[in-house]
Amino acid sequence: MKITRVQAFQVLDSRGRPTVAAAISLADASVHTARVPSGASTGAHEALELRDAGTALAEKFYGGKSVFAAVANINTKIAPALVGKEVALHTIDNQIREIDPSTSRKGLGANATLAVSLAGAKAEAHSKNQSLARFFTPTGNLLLPMPMVNILSGGAHANRTLDIQDVLVLPHGAKSFSEALSWIVAIRELAAVRGKERGLVTHLVADEGGLGIPFDSIEEACSFVVSCIEGFGLKPGVDVSLALDIASTQFFENGQYQLHNAKQSYTSAEFVDFITNLVKNQPIISIEDPFAEDDWDSWKNFASVAPPHLQLLGDDLFTTSQSRLERGIAEKSANAILIKPNQNGLVSDTLRVLESAHGAGFKTVVSARSGETEDSWLADLATGWKAQQIKVGSTHGSERTAKWNRLLELEATEETSFAQPF
Ligand code: PGA
Ligand code: ZN
Repeated sequence: MKITRVQAFQVLDSRGRPTVAAAISLADASVHTARVPSGASTGAHEALELRDAGTALAEKFYGGKSVFAAVANINTKIAPALVGKEVALHTIDNQIREIDPSTSRKGLGANATLAVSLAGAKAEAHSKNQSLARFFTPTGNLLLPMPMVNILSGGAHANRTLDIQDVLVLPHGAKSFSEALSWIVAIRELAAVRGKERGLVTHLVADEGGLGIPFDSIEEACSFVVSCIEGFGLKPGVDVSLALDIASTQFFENGQYQLHNAKQSYTSAEFVDFITNLVKNQPIISIEDPFAEDDWDSWKNFASVAPPHLQLLGDDLFTTSQSRLERGIAEKSANAILIKPNQNGLVSDTLRVLESAHGAGFKTVVSARSGETEDSWLADLATGWKAQQIKVGSTHGSERTAKWNRLLELEATEETSFAQPF
């Protein structure tokens, strides 16, 4: 089926900031729209998110955060190359690569390229009468991912009420996706009640819907979440384990890991010991970005002493980049990668990174951003790509529940299995 129109426009994300939307129209008059998310604790090696800061237009709109240039790149550079062509993700991504061969998508902006690439995947799926998840897994059971869900937030997402970015939970003892989600909702509700009882809730719901409860130490925050798991009658480490996103690049300053709330500062070697003790003392099954994005030595040193069951997950380290993943595989820096399509800029290249990771025995976690939209394509990608894990933030906020609800819909309407990555 032929593409008849490609039209981009600016919309708002969950933080009220502008982001890019692209709509692809097909010959049957159907329209397929995708909106791109945006991070706050972004890695230095992510593909370029094109914003208008510094231009006359930017002074007028959204304090420099507008994305009119990215929208214009779609409407004037990408659209003419696609209109009239048969719809196919493969063709669309190839055309974009031809216009902008850089892997950082610095010519067009990764927010522009991803919007078109995603809309293209949705449009091709439609042309084949498939859902987006089925487009990537045409036959057999769909594999619903294990949710990794935010309970406490700190760092850049919650005014640094906690030094690290998130304390999350992984309900790996649940038998189904819907059971897993129901456990998490209960744990989060209990955390809100207990936080209030202790006078801790600052009424801050963080960017990803987690609770911004202040804690002086990471251990204290972990113990609090463990008590909430137990409070609901579940066994920590058996039914539900902790996952931390340390997001340490955010507090790596002048060669030191500076925990401001804990009033402690560590060298790289000391921080490797600190993390080693932390995972020994708490039921932690996954740890993300424990070391800064370019502190490769600490990653390698920790990986060589980490417990084998621990998922060592690179987000800012890898930024969904093929070359950085390859270095991490060669150096045995980690054993898992966070997959964020907007760090990369194209659907097909993101899938290639995920497949390379699986090929090397890495686990994969498909992830949303702190600035999200009401789109649910991430749920379909995680499922169709057999990622086995998904990270969307908390259970609050329609931009988060859109993804959970899409997974519940797939569970109810398709033949599915529930991933057991642990
Ligand atoms: P971000 O945070 O979207 O602000 O980068 C998410 C994460 O660090 O995993
Ligand atoms: Zn992260």
